Amino acid sequence: MDYQKILNTIEEELSHKNTLGEVASYIPELAKIDAKKFGMYLYCVNKGKFSMGDSKEKFSIQSISKVFTLSIAMKLMGEDLWERVHVEPSGDPFNSLTQLEYEGGIPRNPFINAGALVIADILVSNLKNPKAELLEFVRNIAGDPTIEYDRKVVESEKSTGYRNYALVYYMKALGNIKNEVEPVLDFYFHQCSLAMSCEQLATAFMIFSNQGKMLETGEEILSAKKVKRINSLMQTCGFYDEAGEFSFEVGLPGKSGVGGGIVAIHPEQYSVAVWSPILNEKGNSELGMAALEKLTTMTGVSIF
Ligand code: DON
Repeated sequence: MDYQKILNTIEEELSHKNTLGEVASYIPELAKIDAKKFGMYLYCVNKGKFSMGDSKEKFSIQSISKVFTLSIAMKLMGEDLWERVHVEPSGDPFNSLTQLEYEGGIPRNPFINAGALVIADILVSNLKNPKAELLEFVRNIAGDPTIEYDRKVVESEKSTGYRNYALVYYMKALGNIKNEVEPVLDFYFHQCSLAMSCEQLATAFMIFSNQGKMLETGEEILSAKKVKRINSLMQTCGFYDEAGEFSFEVGLPGKSGVGGGIVAIHPEQYSVAVWSPILNEKGNSELGMAALEKLTTMTGVSIF
């Protein structure tokens, strides 16, 4: 398969495409990003690496971080985890509050904001220094000790994150947040602010393609069973109320973020990250989705 040729074609065909959406602006710091950025990085289990465009430039990974925190929570907790957060698609926007009331404060899944906030609460309860330990986990699987939180994004989100405050307070009232509200939100805003490039993201997500093991060292980070579960959650819930559309168009498990990044994996073949900051109305990267649709259509290979 000539992946480099495919990536070049994707860049040529999409970089001048008319887009309908806008860069995220509800987090003021994200509105400053150049809307024209476009990059992609594909990392194969046979160790082939292919890239195009701005694949080495760091951006705010936002909700993609929810896959990392879920991984850590699954390592810390057994089946009890699923009493605090369920595993069903929500069919609602990522920051919706409505289901929480009639479902007793148990979020539908770990990738909507409510679910990720419960996972943040679990990490705050179980780790001595959650921010440092998350950073260490991500740096290890990405093989890059330079990865950092972006303090400006943290502050920007802290000053405007009213919906996340509402979600945590509401779940606290219903007994599903065990810590004080501030440390949970502080951790959550930090995880969302992680700055990573497509190259670093594709490398970090290789464990989900490679049955939980690091490709270069063979070190097991997650069991194959946990990886099966995380991948199925990415497939069914990774794109919120657009999870069906992403499955339909792309046919891979993946996770998006409002920074414009998307990471997807093909089990035992590759992990791929794409970045373009213009979002559609569901909060997912418009060109990112189109690029991944082209990738699986041109290669003729998806998980379906
Ligand atoms: O909490 C928020 O709203 C953002 N920090 C993350 C949302 C997000 O990335 C949704 N994904 N597409």
